[in-house]
Amino acid sequence: MRIHKKIKQQVYLPREDTFFLLNFLKKQKYSRLRILEIGTGSGIIADFLAEKNKVIATDINEEAINFAKKNCKNAHKIKFIVSDLFEKINNEFDLIVFNPPYLPPDEYDDLISTTDNEVIINFLKKAKKYLSRKGKIILILSSLSLKKNFDYIKKNYEFRIAQEKTLAFGEKLFIYVLE
Ligand SMILES: C[S@@+](CC[C@H](N)C(=O)[O-])C[C@H]1O[C@@H](n2cnc3c(N)ncnc32)[C@H](O)[C@@H]1O
Repeated sequence: MRIHKKIKQQVYLPREDTFFLLNFLKKQKYSRLRILEIGTGSGIIADFLAEKNKVIATDINEEAINFAKKNCKNAHKIKFIVSDLFEKINNEFDLIVFNPPYLPPDEYDDLISTTDNEVIINFLKKAKKYLSRKGKIILILSSLSLKKNFDYIKKNYEFRIAQEKTLAFGEKLFIYVLE
């Protein structure tokens, strides 16, 4: 159990899902937006977005925030906050980006997976309140994510799947744009 706990606190280093999201964001050419990245991990996404936007980057994991502060070249432009979802957030944003722990518990024993089945639903319930009038959310989900996340989106948001990618073993990743 102790080992399990330790794994959960490691910093999530960039992987296929990270680069899928990063490449998508690079194509959008966002500039001068107020952006919140939830679950910044290594900070690579926030670092890119901070080149042309005003960025707040959060993570529930303090080690991730410390890592990102040290390693992002635009760290001086980013406001980093240790926060459970929106717990420490008061502002309004034009864009909220979240590559969440999108796999159900026990799917894989690592940081993509979550012991908290509710994290995406809780994010979706709260996020609208932090969006500006034309604000958008960019969220990654997987074909293995819990069905209730997709159901919640269908019921509560206008959405489109902006991009999808098939991984090894047939798992699909989706980039959702929500309004
Ligand atoms: C799949 S990783 C993504 C990391 C990074 N954004 C990337 O794309 O490489 C998910 C991140 O969400 C963070 N996280 C999990 N639950 C959270 C919560 N309730 N509030 C904030 N961050 C959370 C994890 O610590 C982890 O860094």
